[in-house]
Amino acid sequence: MAIDKEKCAEIIEAFDVRQDALRKIAEDFQADMRKGLAGDPASSMRMLKSYVGLPTGKETGEFLALDFGGTNVRALRILLKGGGDYEVLKKVTKPLVFEGVYDFVSAASEAKDQFDFIAGLIDEVIEENHETPYLLGHTFSFPSAQTNLYDARLITWTKEFATKGVEGEIVNDLLKAALDRIGALNVRPVAVINDTVATLLAAAYKTPDTYIGSIYATGQNTCYLEPFTGTSERAMIINMESGGFSKIMPSKYDEILDAASEKAGEQRMEKMVAGRYMGVLYSLALADLLGSDSAYNFTSIDLSAIVEDAYLDRHLAAEILERETGERFSQPECVLLQQLAAAIIVRSARLVAASYVGILLHLTGNGEITEQTIAIDGSVYEKMPLVKEELRNTFDELLGADAASIRIVLENDGSGLGASIAACIA
Ligand code: BGC
Repeated sequence: MAIDKEKCAEIIEAFDVRQDALRKIAEDFQADMRKGLAGDPASSMRMLKSYVGLPTGKETGEFLALDFGGTNVRALRILLKGGGDYEVLKKVTKPLVFEGVYDFVSAASEAKDQFDFIAGLIDEVIEENHETPYLLGHTFSFPSAQTNLYDARLITWTKEFATKGVEGEIVNDLLKAALDRIGALNVRPVAVINDTVATLLAAAYKTPDTYIGSIYATGQNTCYLEPFTGTSERAMIINMESGGFSKIMPSKYDEILDAASEKAGEQRMEKMVAGRYMGVLYSLALADLLGSDSAYNFTSIDLSAIVEDAYLDRHLAAEILERETGERFSQPECVLLQQLAAAIIVRSARLVAASYVGILLHLTGNGEITEQTIAIDGSVYEKMPLVKEELRNTFDELLGADAASIRIVLENDGSGLGASIAACIA
């Protein structure tokens, strides 16, 4: 089947975000931050208080950390040594879904089973030692309403999680009950933080002048240190739940994806930028281009591989495309389909960069942007082609010379290290 070149160009165009639109997105983002902080329901971001500030860097001791936020759950025993130094003493990772064997994520699963499974992981990490007292920090990467560092109540699942009996509950109570059931009364969950907060805590433990932490992975979200200037409130990290930001013009593929998702109408920005969704957008765009009714199942890993194929004949891209569509495409067609994949990735990075610019505008007012570091964790940032360059290009576009003040670092020990720092601070 020959590809309609004009239609392909149109679809690519649908993923393009021009500079003026991007500037407007950054400004709207800043405005929504302000509204969200003031509790105005017109904000599309929750702006959740985390009840924790930045670490001093002097935190020390042995702690447990639980990282629960994606399909893999990790439990760790960590020794904080201070000054950014730490050692992972033991780590256990297990998936929440094992096809054909168990599934603790779908709507058919129950809270008790999910948390019993997680408590089992913690038991492995403490080697079934039910004597030594341990404090546990929990990185729980879903929107949760907190009134202190311990009690985080899950507002709503995201990332297509659907387990029954967790929404509306205090997650650490569910965890504590599961630990009690296995006799691990010596493990005391003391802090719950979002993964963005964990990333910021971990990065700030090592590098001063870090005020923004972000996850760019299966899901996408950012937190920052809110100074609460001019109020009596102390500076605190705010988990923005920026994946909920909705003031971006969607393409028709975004609309279709949203309508078919677990939570239609929610997490609109996340559904445009996160790893969980980029392959779906590509599948929808390609089905439209080919005039096909079939639902393809491209993943963001496929997208990366398609874009990265630099062989002259593009045989690697052709193989992936054939696997999903059943069609064999010629070299020039593969080049077009690479451009389509690139357009989706580039849009993602530009939107995420615009959201960071919105935060920088909020933090500086009209002042100059000071030298600082933005810490990012996640496979999209770490592994997807074009993402790092596009973040930088967009900073240059939107911030001009000030872009040079911003350093972006990969912080991929976030969830474990950040959780143990939070446990220590608690
Ligand atoms: C969740 C956030 C989380 C992000 C990255 C989103 O779906 O709502 O709480 O930080 O994913 O894991």
